[in-house]
Amino acid sequence: MRTSIRDLLAMKRRGERIAVVTAYDYPSAALADRAGLPAVLVGDSLGMVVHGHASTLPVSLDDMVRHTAAVVRGSLQALVIADLPFLSYATLEDAVQASRRLMGEAGAQAVKLEGVGAALPIVARLTELGVPVMGHLGYTPQSEHLIGARAQAKDAPAARQLLDDALALEAAGAFGIVLELIPAALARAVSQRLTIPTIGIGAGDGCDGQVQVWHDVLGLSPGKPPRHAKVYAEIGGAIVGALQAYAAEVRDGAFPTQAQSVTSHDAEIEAALAQPLKAPPA
Ligand code: KIV
Repeated sequence: MRTSIRDLLAMKRRGERIAVVTAYDYPSAALADRAGLPAVLVGDSLGMVVHGHASTLPVSLDDMVRHTAAVVRGSLQALVIADLPFLSYATLEDAVQASRRLMGEAGAQAVKLEGVGAALPIVARLTELGVPVMGHLGYTPQSEHLIGARAQAKDAPAARQLLDDALALEAAGAFGIVLELIPAALARAVSQRLTIPTIGIGAGDGCDGQVQVWHDVLGLSPGKPPRHAKVYAEIGGAIVGALQAYAAEVRDGAFPTQAQSVTSHDAEIEAALAQPLKAPPA
């Protein structure tokens, strides 16, 4: 059965840590399901790791709907959370429309949005309308030009503000909060104060769960993975090795063999081809 929001809340209550990974397509969702992950995030990080952009800003709602629908088709058990992309929740109407597309059309079970302040009434209204909303505090990539691509809340006032923001998101109805690139001690304190789960990325081991980007944990990123990522398998290297072996066999004539060829009617086909050519119609 698919993980529900209630299941995630129960995991927090039981002290069971929640492992989340991003997924952007059908096969990655199916593999995450096979691995038993309780939730997957269709992150707008797909703008970078799948589409090759420099940031998440060019990601459109259509992109998110297309990728989310593929993830939902691959996933039977994980809770599918889809990012609301940049400026798709600037107004309440936009947020409702975008959530309708991500949940109603693509089939996600929840959405995630970044920030606080103007986002609070949106979180409250979406929740009232039956849309489970996950918050995202700390480094919020959609605001990178405002806040800089760096760790956040490193001094006391900013740390206090982040705790207040997390409590405000919880009060507005958020079912969980991603904490990105904030000091571990702050993330731990926030996690202890909230009844909803915190999901950390670069926020230390005191969160209720962790989220990692698919391409980072599997060694699929072309560059150096970020410091907060751990590479669990060098799949990128394995793919390059496999493609080199394939290309070498094609060059050498070692691929395909009979095993990869259609052979059953070869004799009949050869006989037919040996017949004299019919004269072309006059
Ligand atoms: O877009 C994303 O992948 C995210 C995670 C890094 C939390 O928001």
